[in-house]
Amino acid sequence: MLVDILFRNADVIDGTGAPRRNADVAVRDDRIVAVGDLGAWRGGVEQDCTGLVLAPGFIDPHVHHDEVVLTDPDMACMTSQGVTSIINGNCGFSIAPLTAAPPFPAPLDIILSAEVPRFARFAEYRARLDAQPPAVNTACLIGHGTLRINTMAELGRPADATETAAMRAALDAALAEGGIGLSTGPFYPPARAAPTEELIAMAEVAQAHGKLYVTHMRDEGDRVRESLDETFLIGRKAGCGVHVSHHKCAGLANHGLSEITLAMIDAARARQDVGLDTTPWIASSTMLNSGRHRQATRVLVADSVPYPELAGRDLADIAAEWGLDIDSALERLLPATGIFFVMDEGDVRRILTYPHTMVCSDGIARGKHPHPRVWGTFPRVLGHYVREVGLFSLEEAVHRMTGLPAERFGLTARGRLAPGHYADLVLFDAASIAEGATYDAPITPARGIRGTWVNGRAVWRDAAPTGARPGRTLDQNTGTIAP
Ligand code: ZN
Ligand code: CU
Repeated sequence: MLVDILFRNADVIDGTGAPRRNADVAVRDDRIVAVGDLGAWRGGVEQDCTGLVLAPGFIDPHVHHDEVVLTDPDMACMTSQGVTSIINGNCGFSIAPLTAAPPFPAPLDIILSAEVPRFARFAEYRARLDAQPPAVNTACLIGHGTLRINTMAELGRPADATETAAMRAALDAALAEGGIGLSTGPFYPPARAAPTEELIAMAEVAQAHGKLYVTHMRDEGDRVRESLDETFLIGRKAGCGVHVSHHKCAGLANHGLSEITLAMIDAARARQDVGLDTTPWIASSTMLNSGRHRQATRVLVADSVPYPELAGRDLADIAAEWGLDIDSALERLLPATGIFFVMDEGDVRRILTYPHTMVCSDGIARGKHPHPRVWGTFPRVLGHYVREVGLFSLEEAVHRMTGLPAERFGLTARGRLAPGHYADLVLFDAASIAEGATYDAPITPARGIRGTWVNGRAVWRDAAPTGARPGRTLDQNTGTIAP
């Protein structure tokens, strides 16, 4: 039997959580066709995998690469970590459908730059991705914040009946065109004035499409418990599944609170569909004027449009040099993103270990000094938290990065290494895998990733992108398990 790629003698971790086993893996075209002892088979390319783990490519359920997939289609920040599929449009802000004219309010101005064309319909964005695909597969949520910016002349109040109807119609169309779910961000100024009822009205549309309500909750600090209750209520009223993005308990006063929030999620799961993801870092990253700096023990400037040369510097040092208080210094840096040390290591570990938590980078790739999670998230879990700390097994970690998100977001025939599934694969050395990115040098590829394949084509090999761009747009209705 001749196939396109034959991976020989790999430690196969299949994404279900099952123990690894030694096997050969055959790929023809874009699919895995056989797993087992394939000694008599031949491959156009034969890859010796002795001593290495072969796993399904990782799925990052929470990124902000809506525009980056168009402007930097090699997506090395993702493929260098072994990520093969990403979900964009998070936190209430998607690149499409966008009918409003710039300048855009924060944080949309962080995700979108001025130069890239706008997509008034989601179908236009998809068509562009289909015509000029990136290296990774992409799915996209539809952001309630974006719909608000399109629809409402004044964002500081609840939507009225006419505006709500217009947003619902736009969401309905975008979900019909392949949007994978609804995202909201009532934490952010453009949606902060949206009451729970407005979010329920939007979630009803997601429910009608059988899709998820994904949320950057109203508050992840002092009122995180109230925000969880609001999220659960929205899910129950609308009858749809809810997904808590980048779950955290921010601020010194709230350290340790994950013991309570996870118990709340557990109790809610007994009566409704609730999922969550998290990042494996004690620092968060978002726009600089979010008030979050008051909860942080330290703040770094990740990117500043007027002062790009200050990226990577400590906000307190900049304020001191300018002879300003923190708030005035922050004003001067806008629009800007920051890195906020707000989390407790105990909470990070507790949330990561919770059985239903998936791993996400929440990556914002903009600027020269992003959060190291953009390049380092998945290897950090596999190296630091699995190998060094021993939080859980490698098989369990891989499951949280593959099978779990694929099932959650309905990515058919992805997230599992099995015959009939797409050949999205990563080959890595479990003994040396580690993030290369640090807070000082965040744009650094991981160590220990030997290769990444998307739809049967190598996209990352020998520590560099191959230039292949086989990524597809994914929605819940595409993809079948081939016989
Ligand atoms: Zn967010
Ligand atoms: Cu986000």
